[in-house]
Parts: sequence; structure tokens; C-alpha cells
Amino acid sequence: MSPAAKPTIGILTGGGDCPGLNAVIRAATKTALPLGYDCIGFLKGYEGLVDPVAYMPLDLRNTADILLHGGTILGSTNKGRFSALVGEGDRRQIDPHLLDQAADTVRQLGLAGLVCVGGDGSLAIAQQLHEHGVPVVGVPKTIDNDLGGTAFTFGFDSAVACATDALDRLHTTAASHERVMVLEVMGRHAGWIALHAGIAGGGDVILIPEIPWTFEHVCASVVDREREGKRFTLVVVAEGAHLPDGTLVHDGGQGEERQVRLGGVGGIVAAEIAKRLGREVRAIVLGHLQRGGTPTPFDRVLATEFGAHAVRLVHEGRFGRMVCYRPPDIASVPIAEAIACLSCVDPSSSAVQAARALGIGFGDAPPLRGPFA
Ligand code: F6P
Repeated sequence: MSPAAKPTIGILTGGGDCPGLNAVIRAATKTALPLGYDCIGFLKGYEGLVDPVAYMPLDLRNTADILLHGGTILGSTNKGRFSALVGEGDRRQIDPHLLDQAADTVRQLGLAGLVCVGGDGSLAIAQQLHEHGVPVVGVPKTIDNDLGGTAFTFGFDSAVACATDALDRLHTTAASHERVMVLEVMGRHAGWIALHAGIAGGGDVILIPEIPWTFEHVCASVVDREREGKRFTLVVVAEGAHLPDGTLVHDGGQGEERQVRLGGVGGIVAAEIAKRLGREVRAIVLGHLQRGGTPTPFDRVLATEFGAHAVRLVHEGRFGRMVCYRPPDIASVPIAEAIACLSCVDPSSSAVQAARALGIGFGDAPPLRGPFA
């Protein structure tokens, strides 16, 4: 590795993929080149920074036409050697030798800055690199929308669009067969996707981690709709919604809450409604469908603004910061602040209040009807 002839900006994408990653790569490259920088993209997230170091040049040719493509042309790694999270809220010190290697790579290539695009896990790694003297800038990515310091992460709107489309489709089949349909969506420990898709897709019951719920109230919503002549119900449940006894449903995996793969709560909710009410119920897990595919126009714009702003931060030497969306502006916050605590749905937010006013149940109270009930 020899230092590049021109000042160079490195970009990497870490953690789970999501729509809009390529839009960030394209925007950062197109912004950086006219400012006199070269751009390189490290492959497979942080893994590309260390043995074997792997990167590709980014230019106008290979970043053309990627705006609309989901995933990431650089590849990504989830939970690789750099994992910086252990349990819920627990940070892990990354092996100092790995940090040294990564810092050496950045130094040997003479990088002016390293743009790290990722969710809370990837940005926790970026923070440690920053503390290790690496000039990093963060870009908030995740369909879960659970990063602090920003109103929205890119990818969230695309996931909500996909979940809303699923609800639209379930609506017609639920109505035709007079069934209860339970749609399980992603979001980890935050209910943003369930809340927004539930409202946008005309859901009748929304179950999220932030609002404790009971089966009695969920079933009461189904019965209440039937009294009104509506013989079908759409239930949207976030994968991280605890069962009424507090159980978090997951694959039993590695045992630490932050690391386990969530999923399965929808099937349990469906079975219990069927058992209690004797209705026909079906459970659908949307899964990775909501993480793939083309980004929505909103996500394309947000990701583009994020990519351009990240280069601006490098150019101004403002390292250790994450770009963020503070409507109507794009700004930045310290990465440490963004990852300090996850952003969750506020149960008293206007979105929850509006949903309740429309009669949408959250499983925590008898069904309410009427404006501002
Ligand atoms: O963080 C994004 C996310 O899609 C979560 O909503 C979900 O719980 C998790 O990643 C799934 O991870 P994996 O792709 O590793 O199964």
C-alpha cells in the first residue's frame, strides 16, 4: 500500500444492508471528486480495512446508475471481527490490534477521512476508531430508525413503504375471507416500522415494544370491529414487541439480547387470537423483503444529502461526527451522542395519539372511538 497521489476519502458500509446505501456512495463520490479528492470504497464493511485489506476505487463510471439499487456495491459485514456491541446497551472494546491495523491502513493510504455508513453497531465501531485517532465521519443507516440524534435514518421510509404495501395486499384478502391477519415487521427494539406502516396501511391493532399490551385488549379490538360490521382485522406487530409476560421472542441464539435474532412474535399472537376467539387467523412474517429493493424517493434524497454532507464534514476536518436530519436541515452531531441511547417511539407522540383517535388499538386499553378519545 502506498499513499495515494491525491487526497483520498475512504467509504465503507457496515452492518445489515438497507435501501439507500448506494445513493450515499454515489453522492459522496460525486461531491468529493470536484473538490479534488479521489475516492475508494472498502469492501465488506470494516473487514476491508484489515488483513486482507480490500478496497476498490470509486469514480463517476462505477457509481453511475446505482442510485436506484438496493444493497451496497461495497458489500457489508454484520457481526464480523469488529463487533462493538455485546448485550443491550453494552459496548465492547474492540481488539486493539484490529484498531491498530485499521488505523495503519488509513495512514498508509494517506486518507483524508473515512466515511462509515451504518447503524448503531457500525457507528459504535466508528466511535472507537475515532478515539483511536482515525479521522472518521458517520452516516446513519438503518431501516429500524432507532439511532439517536437524527429525525430519520435512510432506509426506514423504504421499509415502511414495503410493509405498507404488504398491508394493502393483506387488506383485500383479509376482507374477502373475513380473517384476522397478523403481520410481523422488523425494527429490533423500536416500533417505528410497525407504527408508521400500521397507520399508513390502515392497520387496526399495532403492537410495539414501547407500549405494553395484553391479549384481552387485542381480542377486544377484533370483537369491537365485528360489532361495527367489520369482519376482518389487520394486526401489525413489531418483532421486538414483548409478550404480555415480558418475553422477547427470538431464535434463542447467542443469549445476549442485543445479539439474538428477533422473530416469531407474530405467530404467537395469531395462535392466541385464534384460540381465544375461534376466528380464522393467519400470521405473515415480512422478513428481509422489507430490507431489500429500490429506495423510495424520500430515502434517495435523504441518502444523497447525507453522502454530500459527509464529504463536507471531511473537507472541514470535523471528525467524530455523524450527519443527521433535523428537518428541514441536514446537520451533524457527535457520533458518541447518536449511539448513546436508541431512539424509540414516544407513546404520547402525535402519531400514537392520531392513531388512537382513529380507533387503532395498541393492545393496552379497550378500543376507543371518536376524536381524541
Ligand atoms: O437492523 C436491521 C434489521 O433488519 C433488524 O430490523 C432485524 O432484526 C435485523 O436487522 C435482522 O438481521 P439479520 O439480517 O442479521 O437477520
